[in-house]
Amino acid sequence: MTSTAPIDATLIPPGLRNLDLEAIATEFGTPVFVYDEDDLRRRCREYVSAFGTDSVAYAGKAFLCTAMARLVAEEGLHLDCATGGELYAALGAGVPPERIVLHGNNKSDAEIAQALDAGVGRIVVDSFDEIDRLERLATRAVSVLVRVTPGVEAHTHEYIETGTEASKFGFTLTDGVALRAVGRIVAAEHLLFSGLHFHIGSQIYRLDAFARAIERIATLAAAAHADLGVSVDELNVGGGLGARYLPEDPELVVADHAAALRRATKDCWDQVGLSDAPRVMVEPGRSIAAPAALTLFRVGTVKQIPGIGTYVAVDGGMSDNPRPVLYGAGYETYLPARVAAERPLACSIVGKHCEQGDIVVADARLPEGLAVGDLLAMPATGAYGYSMASNYNKVPRPAVVFVRDGVARVVVRRETFDDLVRLDVE
Ligand code: LLP
Repeated sequence: MTSTAPIDATLIPPGLRNLDLEAIATEFGTPVFVYDEDDLRRRCREYVSAFGTDSVAYAGKAFLCTAMARLVAEEGLHLDCATGGELYAALGAGVPPERIVLHGNNKSDAEIAQALDAGVGRIVVDSFDEIDRLERLATRAVSVLVRVTPGVEAHTHEYIETGTEASKFGFTLTDGVALRAVGRIVAAEHLLFSGLHFHIGSQIYRLDAFARAIERIATLAAAAHADLGVSVDELNVGGGLGARYLPEDPELVVADHAAALRRATKDCWDQVGLSDAPRVMVEPGRSIAAPAALTLFRVGTVKQIPGIGTYVAVDGGMSDNPRPVLYGAGYETYLPARVAAERPLACSIVGKHCEQGDIVVADARLPEGLAVGDLLAMPATGAYGYSMASNYNKVPRPAVVFVRDGVARVVVRRETFDDLVRLDVE
């Protein structure tokens, strides 16, 4: 980052732009995740209006707590759970089970039983071993989607690219593997084949890969129709829409994405001679949660190294957001006390963990005169931050605050030192 310009205020969630963030930090402590509840709701509604009712499942892995599960349910979304733990949280929050989709590439007997007992709406099968387990455990009808790896590249970080042949997820189209999986579901007594699923990756800006994936999936749909006499009612295209982290990042329009997906599905189904194009479903996580929050940190140390540069150390780091370390992800930062200030100070913002790699922003820009005790804000941290947080170095996880109509409330409390040893049995 080389510009000395002030923060691009459009990166700050609208409901937090004119808020006294210093007061929030004083009341709730730092680090703290602050979500703009109206912005979360607006993004949920944008998806529902673009894709239709019962066609959007929020991907809980991006950020899940009781308040978030309730919010997405209130907005009419379904919830995608990837583990028994996410399922437990969703059910505990009161999400109607029929609006839950269970994912996972290695679901255990216990997780499958938990989902069947609860009566979840859909299970997305990922392997033949799982189909064996599901057949054994299901005693009444359950809707099943077959996850397919369409073999396309998604132009994103390799760790979050999941649609290639080499992916650990789903069934490949090669050698009729995915078709065999569909056949197994169709033949099973209690498993209802509802459709196909793919997820090509996350943080995707170039959306052309979706149409290529649909083209390949349509050939499977045609084969399933010809060989097994079944049609695909639902086509779940996963999540993946990129979020805007930096000023230069694009702001993708959900309605355009929805229209392009529907068009591609219709065209591809036509091309393979199928008349009944499926309902397109989607599973966004990041694009709903990421832009709706920021993290507040307190600056604790400012260190100048002659001839090298400046380190600004804050009271969090890789334990509340491992994304910079894992994926080299970039973020913007600013001082809420001086939102409109130029930012001539080139520095590295680092955390408090015992690792040189504990980077918050490698090449940050902050205002001149930055001092110990200043409050620092980092926008676009609403997804895959809190949900991937850890207790590394026995650092308690931050509180999560929702703001609505200018009023802040804690929805997840900060961990205490007692919490850090509560699992120790001797
Ligand atoms: N559906 C499935 C089956 C998924 O695996 C994922 C994300 C989603 C939906 C939601 O994708 P989204 O809309 O959030 O892109 N920790 C990484 C991201 C991992 C994504 C995992 N799967 C990161 O921080 O970039």
